[in-house]
Amino acid sequence: MCGITGYIGDRDAYPIVINGLKRLEYRGYDSAGIMMYDGNSINLSKTKGKVSDLEVITNKEEIRKIGKIGIGHTRWATHGEPNDVNSHPHFSESGDLVIVHNGIIENYDTIKKELLSRGYKFKSDTDTEVLVNLIEEVKKTEECKLGKAVQLALTNVIGAYAIAVFDKTKPNELVIARLGSPIAIGIGKDNEEFFVASDASPFIEFTKDALYLEDGELAIIKKGRKIKVRKIDNDKPVDPDIQELKLSLDQIEKGGYDHFMLKEIYEQPKAIIDTYRGRMLPNEGIIKMAGIDDNISKFLNADRIIIIACGTSWHAGLVGEYLIEDMARIPVEVEYASEFRYRNPIITPNDVVIAISQSGETADTLAAIKLAKSKGAFVFGVCNVVGSSIARETHAGAYTHAGPEIGVASTKAFTTQITVLTLISLKLAQAKGTLSKTAVNNYLQTMQQIPTQVEQLLKIDPIVKDIAHHYMEATNCLYLGRGFNFPVALEGALKLKEISYIHAEGYPAAEMKHGPIALIDENMPVFVIATRKGHYEKVVSNIQEIKSRRGKIIAIVTEGDETVKEIADHVIEIPETEEALTPLLTTIPLQLLSYHIAVMLGKNVDQPRNLAKSVTVE
Ligand code: M6R
Repeated sequence: MCGITGYIGDRDAYPIVINGLKRLEYRGYDSAGIMMYDGNSINLSKTKGKVSDLEVITNKEEIRKIGKIGIGHTRWATHGEPNDVNSHPHFSESGDLVIVHNGIIENYDTIKKELLSRGYKFKSDTDTEVLVNLIEEVKKTEECKLGKAVQLALTNVIGAYAIAVFDKTKPNELVIARLGSPIAIGIGKDNEEFFVASDASPFIEFTKDALYLEDGELAIIKKGRKIKVRKIDNDKPVDPDIQELKLSLDQIEKGGYDHFMLKEIYEQPKAIIDTYRGRMLPNEGIIKMAGIDDNISKFLNADRIIIIACGTSWHAGLVGEYLIEDMARIPVEVEYASEFRYRNPIITPNDVVIAISQSGETADTLAAIKLAKSKGAFVFGVCNVVGSSIARETHAGAYTHAGPEIGVASTKAFTTQITVLTLISLKLAQAKGTLSKTAVNNYLQTMQQIPTQVEQLLKIDPIVKDIAHHYMEATNCLYLGRGFNFPVALEGALKLKEISYIHAEGYPAAEMKHGPIALIDENMPVFVIATRKGHYEKVVSNIQEIKSRRGKIIAIVTEGDETVKEIADHVIEIPETEEALTPLLTTIPLQLLSYHIAVMLGKNVDQPRNLAKSVTVE
């Protein structure tokens, strides 16, 4: 969703702010804007479209040459359509204050009415312009400094925000605040400069010292002075917890790949190893996961496990359900976080909730966690982004260690989430004795082969690309799988939909005859996962049913399969492994296929239309 960048120091602010916006493009946005202060006046440029469109405008203007202080924004529209006027930054009525804002001010309408009655006029339809005018009004009536005005204004606000505010009358500082939307502050040597951004990627080459504001905190940054942090609700000072960033520049660059998505698909062997490294000792049959070890009785005594997540993470959760029930024999329910939080679910202190999220910032998942906690459930997080809101909000958890995922379409997040869920399932099975020692050891040893097998699969990319050529013109596609691979069918369909805009549906293979079979004709490509140990004969029958209706069959089979080869139009072979581990392999060709089709159709693979990388609004 929206992205914020900012700079205050001795360098030229323009390149830092604009390059920062480019690094945040992956979050998804529809307009961009920038504000620079030249020592006398505020220069502001904003436009609907991409950061490159903004650069075209700023190329012709003085804005790029001036200023040691600036803020920038990429906007994903919530209140008000994406257009130039609604883009950020926004001025206050007097023109003294400038704001960039991520999130939603839910009570903006009430505040707007009040401000209108006091003579304020509004140019945009945004809740953000309301907020900056509220700050201005408080500053005026309370006769206070910007920091205090922001703090007081925010106590009247309902909603979520990360904001950066600049005041022309005190042009040597920025005020930053956060509630429910992440914001990081990079701290330069001797506090001589500060960087602001929605995540640390925009300033990684300048400093490794960063402060992630906590919810309900406000910071004042001023060149040459220590950062000041205070609580928004009671104005109490907070000791800033400055962390050393582990992120490196090559992790957030394309590294020779055409797209981040492709890079991330190819990173999966390493990402899977990084995720299980130190957590399993296959020869000894040991699984070490501190978050589970320390809370093992909660899991073993749980009436059930509820998995909550959205999108791809929800698909990983479904694989988790199959794994945990199969291996550890604990009942599992998988819920969309957005439904769970509003449907008045029955949650008791005997429930264990596993919340899965790549970004750790998804608003619905976060709200569902808070609900589960309020009912006394123990909540375990599976997140990728270290220090994210969900990682902090959960009682315990396990990181996926996939490294930054920048392509909007999740790839390595999915396989590493499944890796963590597999380890959790084996750990619980071991503790409960539902799997024998030999079986656990066998799984761990087989698991160790997965990264090499993924490498092997990536080598068949040219075959997948050729298949993509055949089906790039399709308007509808069906994805079928059974058992552990039913969620992979859902995930395959989601990947195609989100980056190529081709309509696709995932189904359990046997469900086909209860409806979707009516869609099948010679124009319908059907992607079927038919692994050798996965109810194989049944799936082969489904393939026959498709064939008899002249559907096109693209089958993912275990290597050496001869039967399906006879029937299918195209076959992709995956290496042999335990059926429970096949999702880690079958998903790879489906990711590649979606990628190639989207590229062939000329779509924006890394930033598909309307989508945001982390959905921080509900
Ligand atoms: O960051 P999260 O895992 O919580 O995100 C959940 C979904 O928004 C995300 O998986 C989304 O579905 C992806 N675009 C899928 O590729």
